[in-house]
Amino acid sequence: MSNEPQPDALSVAEAIRRKRAVRAYTTAPVPEDVIEAILNAGRRAQSSKNTQPWAFVLVTEREQLARVAAAGTYAAHMAHAAFTVVLVAAPGSEFDLGQAAANMQLAATALGVGSCVTILHNEALAHEVLGVPSDLTCRWTITFGYPADANAARPLAAGGRRPLSEVLHRERY
Ligand SMILES: Cc1cc2nc3c(=O)[nH]c(=O)nc-3n(C[C@H](O)[C@H](O)[C@H](O)COP(=O)(O)O)c2cc1C
Repeated sequence: MSNEPQPDALSVAEAIRRKRAVRAYTTAPVPEDVIEAILNAGRRAQSSKNTQPWAFVLVTEREQLARVAAAGTYAAHMAHAAFTVVLVAAPGSEFDLGQAAANMQLAATALGVGSCVTILHNEALAHEVLGVPSDLTCRWTITFGYPADANAARPLAAGGRRPLSEVLHRERY
């Protein structure tokens, strides 16, 4: 029996519906077992040939969060987050990293934790700050914290996503 905190009764469909990019966080720390549950959701993701090509760099220290944030162009929120998880892998593993990222973000939503994917545009700086070997990418990180806005997990307003009729093609493009 796992000691992991269990997500609440949100259905998968409801977690998908409610997951918004959350960039404003309270100062409340996220308990270690909740962080671990989120990381485990990423670790359990599917990957091509089950290669599990990822490594996760967990950043919780305030000064290090600010240093990593400086490597992003749209990353100011990270400096005030509870933690960020930098996705590290060999180039070409982007689809797999996306699977791990989505798992972590949905698990976080179900645990009441907000998150935001953030690109580290200045990858050279990210490599330096994080000590990631130069043959691995560290372009994407997911930033987490309890949402400052109690309404953050709202379902999308109409128009928030393109309608299915616009994105779906049947049998041929
Ligand atoms: C690949 C990717 C990169 C993103 N990069 C950033 C980023 O650098 N900074 C940021 O604030 N949000 C970033 N986001 C968050 C998106 O802006 C957000 O998911 C999108 O606007 C939808 O938001 P919503 O679910 O709240 O409607 C990124 C999302 C993805 C999937």
